[in-house]
Amino acid sequence: MKQYSTTFATKFAAFAAALFLAGGAFAAEPVKVETENTMMLFEREQSAAGERLYLRHFGPKIADEAGALALAVKSGPISSLGTDNPLAYPVFGESGRWINRFGGLKVTHDNGTVTLDLIVEKIERDGEALKVRWRDAVHDFRVIQTFRPRADADVVETWVELVNGEKGAVRISRMSSFALVFPMLANDWRLMSLTGEWGSEGEVVDKPIERGRRIVLDSRSGIRDAWLNNPAFMLSIGGPSTETDGRVIGCALCWSGAWEMSFRRSEVDLLEVVGGPANVAGDYVLDSGKSIKLPVAALTYSENGKGQISRNFHRWARRHWMPNGTKERPTLLNNWEGTGLLFKESEIVKIMDGAKSVGVEMFVLDDGWFGLGEHLRNTDDRGLGDWYVNREKLPNGLAGLADEARKRGLKFGFWVEPEMANWGKCDLLEKHPDWALQEKGRPMRLGRGGTQVVLDFTNPAVRDEIWRQLDAAYSSVPGLAYIKWDANSNIENVGSTYLDAAHQGNLYFDYTMGYYDVLSRQRAKYPNLDMQACSSGGGHMEYGSLRYCDEFWTSDNTDPRDRVKMQWGASMFYPACAIASHVTVTGRQVPFKYRVDVSFSGRFGFEMQPKSMSPRELEFAKNAVKEYHRIRPVVQQGDLYRLVSPFEHDYSALMYVDGAKTRAVICLYGLSRDTRKNYLPPLVLQGLDPAKRYRLRELNTESWRWPHSPLLGKCTDFVAEMEKGAAVPTGEALMKMGLPVSLGDKDYDSAIFELIAE
Ligand code: DGJ
Repeated sequence: MKQYSTTFATKFAAFAAALFLAGGAFAAEPVKVETENTMMLFEREQSAAGERLYLRHFGPKIADEAGALALAVKSGPISSLGTDNPLAYPVFGESGRWINRFGGLKVTHDNGTVTLDLIVEKIERDGEALKVRWRDAVHDFRVIQTFRPRADADVVETWVELVNGEKGAVRISRMSSFALVFPMLANDWRLMSLTGEWGSEGEVVDKPIERGRRIVLDSRSGIRDAWLNNPAFMLSIGGPSTETDGRVIGCALCWSGAWEMSFRRSEVDLLEVVGGPANVAGDYVLDSGKSIKLPVAALTYSENGKGQISRNFHRWARRHWMPNGTKERPTLLNNWEGTGLLFKESEIVKIMDGAKSVGVEMFVLDDGWFGLGEHLRNTDDRGLGDWYVNREKLPNGLAGLADEARKRGLKFGFWVEPEMANWGKCDLLEKHPDWALQEKGRPMRLGRGGTQVVLDFTNPAVRDEIWRQLDAAYSSVPGLAYIKWDANSNIENVGSTYLDAAHQGNLYFDYTMGYYDVLSRQRAKYPNLDMQACSSGGGHMEYGSLRYCDEFWTSDNTDPRDRVKMQWGASMFYPACAIASHVTVTGRQVPFKYRVDVSFSGRFGFEMQPKSMSPRELEFAKNAVKEYHRIRPVVQQGDLYRLVSPFEHDYSALMYVDGAKTRAVICLYGLSRDTRKNYLPPLVLQGLDPAKRYRLRELNTESWRWPHSPLLGKCTDFVAEMEKGAAVPTGEALMKMGLPVSLGDKDYDSAIFELIAE
């Protein structure tokens, strides 16, 4: 670790001399964090109390750093925000002439003082990372702020650790992983984020932040933390941005519990953005001598609109964040939509036969395989908490099923819901009723099935027992390849018998840390297990879970038309390899091809009885699976370019390009289009090599595809010509003129194209 500053309360002369003695080169070294294309540039300043640090620039790299610092707007007009020159970690209190009324951190010290006054103790390098050690000027309360660049993805991971050296407990009412204030950078700010609920995840909302207003995105569920609001956003600077244009900041909070992010645009255009875990149940009480590490927030910046922000997140997630992010994700068939809870071993084996004939690589057994005694999981009101095989349903156990899968060349995985139990309907809670979250003296609020409750994961004994059961189930299955970890509740009973009265406010944070504790034990013991994070569908579509899991279940809504929008929304922040997308039997009558094509823009799979496919559909599915396996590296690991938004048009298109720009996959989806306005402009492609020539193939074609409008025969002919190799356009032409395409004039038509460089 290289130290290039000095301790707090040093007067400037002594400070400079000390640096000179310690190696004057450090004194000139700017405080910055750089990625390949972006930088965060900080400025140090001395005050009577000690050194302060300010963030002056977060954006494109600027070679002349001194010039950049001179140009940076250091302070805006006096604002009711309070401070006009906020620290690199703005807090409630601060040190200036005016109090900062907001900021990312608000504590009450052990003597009752309610403000903070942070000065820099030390600035260190930890490899590429920058560590700023802050300390309150009076109290022994420290903040260690880290910025870790991921250069090749243009992402900076940042987080803070709070350390209580005071004699007594410190109460923390607001704690943020990141806190950014931009004084007078722009007078038009737009916030894009995702909203949704059960079945409506991934809806894109992009609205201005009005002057004088505060917008809060949050989740108070404690578990389904990606509903209502998803813990990620894009902020357009100085006006609306598009997929390809505009200055944009992207941020994802890597957290799976309650959280809050707020955007306060002052009356004089300071913008304060703070975000971190939310203390829904009250102040977090940090005891003397203890520390707490807040979750990572991933920050990124683009000069070229939102598409680049997404690609930065995707690359970062695959290369730096997810456990096995660069590994190809398997195709699978899950039995949930096909059987629900009621199945027999023989039926599951038949489904495996179907999975084998379709050609997928894995079979996943969903809910219903477990339970004890009276509490066998044949209905959804019982069995959670008892992770023992139900031998009535599965006489040969999970291992027997895994063996059947192996015989068919399939990998095997299964479903668990470890954080949950059924009140009065599981052995675990009969023995340990105090292991459920509960409020003293109040009746229990009971969820799914009229009995579901959340286990007290703040309690290590609960986590140990659940992990003991899971580990026993996992290790009973030779070659276990996949676990789907579900969570179908919010924290409904806000109380813990494990935490004492003084620490009940810690419940939400400690609960989520408990979730991570069990996930990390699982990851440590089974490093190559594929893991899906699920929470009643897309309740865990976030990077906290993706630190341990390989994908999320995007939504229980598998209607393909809805999925076009949801997956578009999810792709704003999350890579295709993490977006589980299964072909199902849906309420709406949608052609099989369309259902399959939509699932191609994610981690492809099926969730249906293969026997419900017609022979024609089965043939189509077999061929599609083969094609997906071929194009999988491009879709799962390539760069995504969103071409036509389903939120703005009656069709949608996106494309993926591999790193060498030698292969691309284009997905085109019609969305209930008007018959007489069926004129599609050419798809202006992106991300190709202008100099390369590309051959085109259409995948997933089928003879009963609805005929294209005769008006568009020419376009179809062109594609046919390209397919024959008569036309082999350059990347330049495809990106400047576009690819002529057409869609049929019925409600659903879709196409998947592949481009291969010659
Ligand atoms: C909710 C999930 O989202 C579904 O996919 C399924 O696993 C059920 N739970 C099982 O209870």
